[in-house]
Amino acid sequence: EQFYVGVDLGGTAIKVGLVNAAGELLQTFEGPTEVAQGTEAVINNIEKYVRHIVETSPYEWDQIAGVGAGVAGFTNIKEGIIVLAPNIGFKEVPIRSILEERLGKMIKIDNDANVAALGEVWSGAGKGLEHCVCYTLGTGVGGGIIVGGKIVQGFSGLAGELGHMAVIPDLEAIQCGCGKMGCLETVSSATGIIRMANDAVERGDRTSLSLLEHAITAKDVFDAAKAGDEVSERIVSRAAFYIGKSMASIAVTLNPERFIIGGGVSKAGDYLFDQIRDTFMKLTPEPVTRGVSIVAAELGNDAGMIGAAGLFLHS
Ligand code: BGC
Ligand code: NA
Ligand code: ZN
Repeated sequence: EQFYVGVDLGGTAIKVGLVNAAGELLQTFEGPTEVAQGTEAVINNIEKYVRHIVETSPYEWDQIAGVGAGVAGFTNIKEGIIVLAPNIGFKEVPIRSILEERLGKMIKIDNDANVAALGEVWSGAGKGLEHCVCYTLGTGVGGGIIVGGKIVQGFSGLAGELGHMAVIPDLEAIQCGCGKMGCLETVSSATGIIRMANDAVERGDRTSLSLLEHAITAKDVFDAAKAGDEVSERIVSRAAFYIGKSMASIAVTLNPERFIIGGGVSKAGDYLFDQIRDTFMKLTPEPVTRGVSIVAAELGNDAGMIGAAGLFLHS
C-alpha cells in the first residue's frame, strides 16, 4: 500500500498528515513554523516534521509515494517556486527542488487555499461538485477555484488569489501585505478585523472592546458584535460585505454552484454567513444566484493536509 504526506505550510504552524489513497487522514503532527528564524530554518522544520510523522507511523519510508505541500502565499506551481509569502517570510524560494533533494521523494506544491479547495471537493463541503469557489478567512484571505473538478491555475499558477481582489474603494483603502491598495484581505481577514478593532479603540470609539485586558482577537470582535456592541457590528458587517461583494463578481465570472468558506474566521457561523448571503443576493443578478449556496467548509484544519496529498491523486 502507498501513502502520501500532506503538508500545510502556514505562518504560525506547519501541519503534516499521513494520507492514504482514499483521502483518509491517518495521522497528523503539528510543529511551529518559526518564521522569525528565517527561510533555512523553516525548510529544516518541514523536512524534520515530514520525517518525524513517517518514523512514528507503522509505515516504511519506502511506502511514501510523494509529499504534497499547500503554501500560504503566491505559489508558481509550474516552476515549484514560492514567489511571495509575506506571512512565511519567503520570497522566490524554489521549494519543490529543495524538498525533492532533501527528502528524495516526488514533491508537489500549490497554494494553501487551492489545496484546501481541492480537499473540500474531494471529501468535504463540495464533495463531487464540479464548480466551486472556496475562501479561507484566516491570517490572510485565501481563495481556491475549482472548475470541472480541478483547481484553476491560470497562466503562472497564481489564479485564485481572491484575498487580493481590489474591492475596497480608494478612499477607504489601505496597503496590503502584497504591496497594493484596497485588497479584500485588508478588511475580511482576522488580521484586518483586529486592525479595525484596534483602530476603533485607539480613536476612543465607545466599544466594549476597550475593556478587554488582552490583545483583541477576531473572536472577541465577533462575540462583542453578537452581544450588540455597535462598533464591532460595523467591523463585522464591513468584513462580510466585501466578501459578499467579491462573490457577486465571481458569480458572474465563473457561475459556481457553491461558495465554501473556511478558516478560523468562518467559525463565527451564521452570524457572519447570513450577512455574506444578504450582500451576495443583493448584488448578484438573479439568474446567476439560482441554485447557488454559500456554506461552511467541513474539513476544518485538515483541509490543507488532505488537499495537499490530493495533489497526487486528483490533479
Ligand atoms: C496569500 C495567499 C494565501 C492566503 C491564505 C494570503 O495573504 O496571498 O496566497 O492563500 O493568504 O493563507
Ligand atoms: Na489560491
Ligand atoms: Zn493584497
